[in-house]
Amino acid sequence: MQYDKVMSTNDMLMEKIREGNLQEGAIVLAGEQMRGRGQHGKAWESPAGRNVLMSIYLKPSFLNGTNFPMLASCIALGVRAVLQRHLPERELRVKWPNDILCNGKKICGILIENHLNGVQSTTIVGIGINVFQSIFHAFERQATSILLEQPGFVGSVSSICSDVCEWVERYYLTLRQPNGPQQIRDLYVSQLYRLNEQVLVDATSWMITGVSLSGKLLLQNGDHRLELEHNEKKITWN
Ligand code: BTN
Repeated sequence: MQYDKVMSTNDMLMEKIREGNLQEGAIVLAGEQMRGRGQHGKAWESPAGRNVLMSIYLKPSFLNGTNFPMLASCIALGVRAVLQRHLPERELRVKWPNDILCNGKKICGILIENHLNGVQSTTIVGIGINVFQSIFHAFERQATSILLEQPGFVGSVSSICSDVCEWVERYYLTLRQPNGPQQIRDLYVSQLYRLNEQVLVDATSWMITGVSLSGKLLLQNGDHRLELEHNEKKITWN
């Protein structure tokens, strides 16, 4: 389903799911969001028609409460693969838990929202990819877009959307396999931003060593090990 303008593609998809008869894999695309949402209650701003703004309906009932974070990892891997194909000379990494950075600058954000309706849980995966945007405000971390990284870029927002659908589906099918969560975790760790490097957790330096199957960031400092939940502590990445 494609719209010129919505409040938020995540909200529009939820509205359509509530109306009924929507299958897993249904997608809402929009050219513009009037109230795009980012993580931590922040706004996600995007100029009209210049970026990917999409939401995908998933029902990952094969995951449990513990390994559910591997869904976000699988989505991040799919989007990262698409961006790497368009930007072969750039380093694309996943910043835990699910931002995608291009040479350290944010190029994609992912917002996963779960709604319980009876016993069925509905998952909405919102993806925002900076494609043709060239000016950024209000980002804590420096941001970039495909066009800024590759000034002669001739692709279209819609072709990137279809690549994202294809690659996210590939990784989602991997995730569904019996040892899928482990495979996704290992692939995710191989693309992790700052893997084997030092970051500051509060004021102490720790080395990132991996991510657990439950999505916790694993760190080490000498003989000490640390497992962090998302937002448990302040991490200074650079
Ligand atoms: C982040 O803060 O990094 C997550 C940003 C997610 C933005 C996307 S754009 C499409 C979808 N609809 C929304 O309102 N948000 C997500």
